[in-house]
Amino acid sequence: MPSEPSPLADQPLKFEAKNLSRSFGHGKKLVEAVKNVSFGIASRDIISIVGQSGCGKTVLAKMLLRLETPSSGTLSFNGKPIGNERDAREHWRSVQAVFQDPFSAFNQFFTIRSQLKSSFKLFKRKPEEEEMEARVDAALMAVNIKPKEVEGKYPFELSGGQMQRMLLARIFILRPQVLIADEPTSMVDACSRANILDYLMKLKQELDMTIVFVTHDIGLACYISDSIFIMHEGEIVEQGPPAQVTGSPSSAVTRQLLDDIPDVHRPWIKRGALD
Ligand SMILES: Nc1ncnc2c1ncn2[C@@H]1O[C@H](COP(=O)(O)OP(=O)(O)OP(=O)(O)O)[C@@H](O)[C@H]1O
Ligand SMILES: [Mg+2]
Repeated sequence: MPSEPSPLADQPLKFEAKNLSRSFGHGKKLVEAVKNVSFGIASRDIISIVGQSGCGKTVLAKMLLRLETPSSGTLSFNGKPIGNERDAREHWRSVQAVFQDPFSAFNQFFTIRSQLKSSFKLFKRKPEEEEMEARVDAALMAVNIKPKEVEGKYPFELSGGQMQRMLLARIFILRPQVLIADEPTSMVDACSRANILDYLMKLKQELDMTIVFVTHDIGLACYISDSIFIMHEGEIVEQGPPAQVTGSPSSAVTRQLLDDIPDVHRPWIKRGALD
């Protein structure tokens, strides 16, 4: 008997890539950063892109963000090709990112608060002054920072962990449909790392977001994801739910990544996968 179609079956995928590639340079200097990848990302899923340094994770993430243009293949968002919007800001209202280095995302010469407020420039209709102030306060509180703590402060006056939380506060203000988080935890200690993951989960729950998480660490990826893409030399060599990818890895790359998991993250992998 045919199985019942899932109620979500006719929802368009958030992202859909078909034979997507991005290369740089040519001739002897050709770098095929992303090679012929195809995938779908369902609405409200958390997916992780996992792989070793230089395998193409950031280039792929930047294509999802419309910060890199594909060399070939197709990439769509909500059923429409990315890059066809009249204004790139239209895409950035829906798809936002937090990157590895929070300091590079803020201008050193302006206060944190004024920069959080300037996020509203992306909106089609800027709220009233009072509402903007209230929303900045609410976003700061959502990441456990008392608005007074950052009053009048510049980025260099905060720690790396606090700045990561400022990036997340920006996300609370912008409320995008999709968050791309590229190694957001690699600059901070283990305690702040756990906090950042907790904030990501809170964001997902409160804003009903789709999250694309980029990491070297397959343990971390298993802990938070519905689905994992394993990348190697520009290709997606394996994709599926964490239990499948770690329980019966079909590629040597996945097995190597499993061997490389930091010991503290080992309990996050289903028993059996590492035996
Ligand atoms: N603008 C660019 N011009 C030329 N080559 C590039 C450019 N951006 C990326 N590359 C190359 O593409 C490949 C993939 O880079 P990418 O930044 O996506 O790696 P990654 O998987 O994110 O690595 P890491 O884990 O170290 O961040 C690398 O060989 C890199 O040197
Ligand atoms: Mg990268």
